[in-house]
Amino acid sequence: MTKRVLLTGHDGYIGTVMAPFLMDRGYRVTGLDTGYFRDTLLGGQAPEIPEIRKDIRDLTPRDVEGFDAIIHLAALSNDPLGDLDRDWTRHINLDATVRLAGYAKQAGVSRFLLASSCIMYGMSETAEVDETTPLAPLTEYARSKAKCEEALSEMAGDGFSPVFIRNGTVYGYSPRMRLDTVMNDLTAQAISTGKIVIYSDGTPWRPVIHINDLVRTFPNYLEAPIDVIHNQAFNNGSDDLNYRIIELAEIVSKTVPGATLEIQSRADADQRTYKASFAKFARAFPDFAFQWNPENGAADLYETFKKLGFGGEDFDGDQFIRLHWLKHLLASGRLDETLRWKS
Ligand SMILES: NC(=O)c1ccc[n+]([C@@H]2O[C@H](COP(=O)([O-])OP(=O)(O)OC[C@H]3O[C@@H](n4cnc5c(N)ncnc54)[C@H](O)[C@@H]3O)[C@@H](O)[C@H]2O)c1
Repeated sequence: MTKRVLLTGHDGYIGTVMAPFLMDRGYRVTGLDTGYFRDTLLGGQAPEIPEIRKDIRDLTPRDVEGFDAIIHLAALSNDPLGDLDRDWTRHINLDATVRLAGYAKQAGVSRFLLASSCIMYGMSETAEVDETTPLAPLTEYARSKAKCEEALSEMAGDGFSPVFIRNGTVYGYSPRMRLDTVMNDLTAQAISTGKIVIYSDGTPWRPVIHINDLVRTFPNYLEAPIDVIHNQAFNNGSDDLNYRIIELAEIVSKTVPGATLEIQSRADADQRTYKASFAKFARAFPDFAFQWNPENGAADLYETFKKLGFGGEDFDGDQFIRLHWLKHLLASGRLDETLRWKS
């Protein structure tokens, strides 16, 4: 039977790639998004799919009826957004998600795939973090994901199976591009300014995952026998995709002709570091092969940016930095003080 999937956040960076991918794989996908970034297209076209245009804080039980699974991407999706107003991140990422999961359970939607994040591991003292490592969320965003996992985990059972998909930093081209993740930022800097600047000393570790591989991992969680995924957390990626920031920067500087590299080692720079173990993913899904790495990913991004004539306003403007675009929508009066659209 064709699986009916409700994909929240389908108008975002990941969702815009995931929706057509899942539809090509034969899923019946309905999107659900309030559309904060709907107008921020970089080349390409966003797929038109059946959708519910709503804020996830304003859902009703009926919105989730008739689906076999929910993939929940909708969120305020990074740390600086949590600094803008802590309540927004808590209300959207935590409270609305827990309510949505409650409606899902009530409606008999059996699988709830939460896009979670390795960022919850914080600044890890251990050599490698796995799913049993105690979480140490350092920001409002990271705390919202950690609390979400905890709350949904308590709801597991009676035909309701949440699964917590802890992603590393995602990179690669999407028609709804984001430049505020590390590889995308480094590549955009290199092509726009001829220079790659790292504020830290470059030693922190980051697990990275290409957007095309990321979307390919999701059918694993939709299709696996329920006992494999029921109430489980997975670091979503591969052991060989842990990189130091400096290594990523060097790859980009080799990819973009003439780009120079400057390491500032600022005292106030982001020094969060964590190397993730993906052994559990490999055990659960032994046949899954990752196709992308920072070398071929940076090359693809560079070629795509070149083809689209990326530069100048694309790099300096607000539209591809999540925090800047939301500030723009607020300042221009399109969003109110609760981050809802003014009619
Ligand atoms: N991009 C990454 O590196 C990364 C890494 C780890 C986890 N994640 C998680 O993956 C998910 C998707 O990330 P992304 O990079 O596509 O982010 P994004 O910001 O590009 O997309 C998020 C989408 O959610 C929608 N949304 C936000 N608040 C909403 C609300 N109140 N009601 C309805 N829709 C709302 C936005 O309009 C947007 O389309 C997020 O949950 C994020 O935390 C992303």
